[in-house]
Amino acid sequence: MKDSLQSQQVDSVAVKTTGHSGEETQWRCDRIAAPWGPTTSGPDAEWLFRKEFEVQTCVQARLSITAQGVYEAEINGRRVGDHFMAPGWTAYDGRLQYQTYDVTSLLSVGRNCIGVRVAEGWFCGRIGFEGGHRNIWGPHPALIGQLEIYYPNAIVETIPTDSTWLVTKGPIQRAEIYNGEKYDATLEVPYWSTIAPEGATKSAHDWVPVLCMSPLPAQIEIVTGIGEPVRRTETIKPLQYILSPSGKSIIDFGQNLVGYIRLRNIQGCRGHKITLSHAEVLEDQELCTRPLRQCDSVDEYTLKGDENGESYEPRFTFHGFRYAQIDGWAGDFSLMDSAEAVVCHTDMKEAGSFSCSDELLNQLYQNIRWGMKGNFLAVPTDCPQRDERLGWSGDLALFAPTAVLLFHCFDFLRNWLIDVWHDQQALDGVPAMVTPNATLPDLVWCRRKPCAIWHDVTILAPWALYEETGSVEILEQQYESMTTWMKILPRNREGCTHLWDTSIFQLGDWLDPDAPADAPWKGKTDAQLVANAFLIHSLELMAQIADLLHKDEDRLSYEKESRAAKKEFQEEYVTTNGRLVSDSQAAYSIAICFGLLTPTQQERAGSRLVYLVKKNNFRIGTGFAGTPFLCEALVLTGHIQVAYAMLLEKTCPSWLYPVTMGATTMWERWDSMLPDGRVNPGEMTSFNHYAFGAIAKFLFDRVAGLQRTGPGWKKCRIAPCIGAELSGASASHETPMGLVSCSWKTSNLSEKQSSLELKVTVPHGMACEIILPKGSGELQKTVGSGEWTFETIFVRDYEWPLKPLPPKS
Ligand code: BGC
Repeated sequence: MKDSLQSQQVDSVAVKTTGHSGEETQWRCDRIAAPWGPTTSGPDAEWLFRKEFEVQTCVQARLSITAQGVYEAEINGRRVGDHFMAPGWTAYDGRLQYQTYDVTSLLSVGRNCIGVRVAEGWFCGRIGFEGGHRNIWGPHPALIGQLEIYYPNAIVETIPTDSTWLVTKGPIQRAEIYNGEKYDATLEVPYWSTIAPEGATKSAHDWVPVLCMSPLPAQIEIVTGIGEPVRRTETIKPLQYILSPSGKSIIDFGQNLVGYIRLRNIQGCRGHKITLSHAEVLEDQELCTRPLRQCDSVDEYTLKGDENGESYEPRFTFHGFRYAQIDGWAGDFSLMDSAEAVVCHTDMKEAGSFSCSDELLNQLYQNIRWGMKGNFLAVPTDCPQRDERLGWSGDLALFAPTAVLLFHCFDFLRNWLIDVWHDQQALDGVPAMVTPNATLPDLVWCRRKPCAIWHDVTILAPWALYEETGSVEILEQQYESMTTWMKILPRNREGCTHLWDTSIFQLGDWLDPDAPADAPWKGKTDAQLVANAFLIHSLELMAQIADLLHKDEDRLSYEKESRAAKKEFQEEYVTTNGRLVSDSQAAYSIAICFGLLTPTQQERAGSRLVYLVKKNNFRIGTGFAGTPFLCEALVLTGHIQVAYAMLLEKTCPSWLYPVTMGATTMWERWDSMLPDGRVNPGEMTSFNHYAFGAIAKFLFDRVAGLQRTGPGWKKCRIAPCIGAELSGASASHETPMGLVSCSWKTSNLSEKQSSLELKVTVPHGMACEIILPKGSGELQKTVGSGEWTFETIFVRDYEWPLKPLPPKS
């Protein structure tokens, strides 16, 4: 337990504050809790806090507020702000974010009331893998806040959380992230956040004075949130009603999403219960909850018996689902008219768009978008539905270069990276597998265990942010985290002294489709080879980063180390002619993309990769590590059509297989759903994991042909790869320089010849190189800002469809 809270009375709390918005909140308030708090061992009901106060005509009023837990505030019965699951999830043992809201319009002259509901959230609700644990950061929730009322003549009145506040239990009887919310409307507390009118019946609920706790431990900073908050961003109506074979009422929203269900027109007698069980898929037309593991994902509503109908939406939980089974629905209204899904995620603005003439590829792109939205909820998570939903570092390390193309996520990831460094320091320099580190010290297999890729996130994620924005500040912010990781990474003490210590367990090409379902690390590519390729890549990036930060000594040393490691990699894993000891798609793809081979080896490796791909009937043979590099390696070695054959393949494993199975998000496994419609029996089967969605970068870079070639998009290249039977593609991206876009289309003139039209928009200050594909005069020129159109004749001189290798070759 990282923060041992004590139930002692103190007069006031001076909280250490770091402001990022330029204006720091001077905290003059107590950290308050319910007096019964310290005794809670199981899930507790939400706590309602309230305070009445007088207001005269004021100029402005601001509420600065945070919680250890999650909160929602109301003033005079009206909601403050529109955040969901505030204050968000940070490494609570180091940083607690707070929010400041302008609440002027919620106040009125005279008597006012502020009410705040607080629940356990990530802070002390059950979280973590292997079932998770309660109370990881503290034994119970707490509230910290102050309302500042500005009067004319610079008079400021503060209403701080202190011993004059009252607390009681609210109608939310359980507010768990994994298990869901239980709301008992019979326990609603009338006027809990308002001034009760004269003569109103006194609430049966006992309001008691709060407990003032000891100040926040000195090492916990209270900081303004960086980046956008989580919000409810859209609503989706159900697509169909399904009466399951066992007679259950199931609604299908047509989209796997993250959020919750809002119900209206709830009818029934007082005490009647309605439950909503969530799942991503159906099996045998029934809700399939097995992949959720130790996670109920059930919301429950107990009616108060209002004959005009009741409404309900959970506040402090979220689910990953497409389907919901609703039990106990009664009355005259149809479920279809009364339910809607509310989509929740960090409210990032969309940064890119992609579309092309192939509808399945368009759906693939949409699935990747949805996968990213749902898993960028306060922190970048592996999945949003089962008993994990954690900030797995490896998933992000591999997806970051794609993520920055889809949504503006710089601040979101910058915020998370601060915690990556925090958790790393707490583990003596070894990054955590998940940040915020929701693992208890006794989970030895994943604490202080160095691991390639997952821990290379310290370098790969800031680098992706730098490339996208040109911000050297992000490299500065994370530099100590990167150098610490590079220093602590264990190298072989014998033999290859610059490569990974071979005694260390590696996750390798995690979830290689040939790995056994229950041992995803046992892929066909040597895990040490994968680890070392990423090590060399990290060292090379470190040399570039040191150079950008003018740390010449470091640069020289990283250059020297990467050269030595590369030499040893060659000796250990590569033949003179470019064969790799792991004769696998992942090994060749990674080695080609990371530049680990000589030009001759590179060419041979490309041909070998083509051989392996054809032998595999254009199906994918890579896991998390190899997948982002597969099609790119084929293009880099001149095999565009083979890359297209893979991209458009529909049999499993392939990117389009899930699309043909009706997927609306990216799956964790290539075969999360088996061809016969059954769910993969593996115990780790999510239908919403973004890792394999890294292919979206290829859709931008190669299919549409929009590539960033300089940090911050000062330079870009438009070079579409025309292939297969695609007749057009377009992409746009909101860069720091402005909107850049390209769109190409072909029209057949004869069997082999097509006209090719390319339209490009280049923002001010960007130098854009245009390269028209082979077969169209190979135009190459650089243009500046403006709208450009290029027209030419394209000669389709490639074989299509490609043939796989005959069975015996
Ligand atoms: C997560 C992955 C993660 C992996 C590593 C899984 O349970 O869902 O995405 O990277 O564990 O061990």
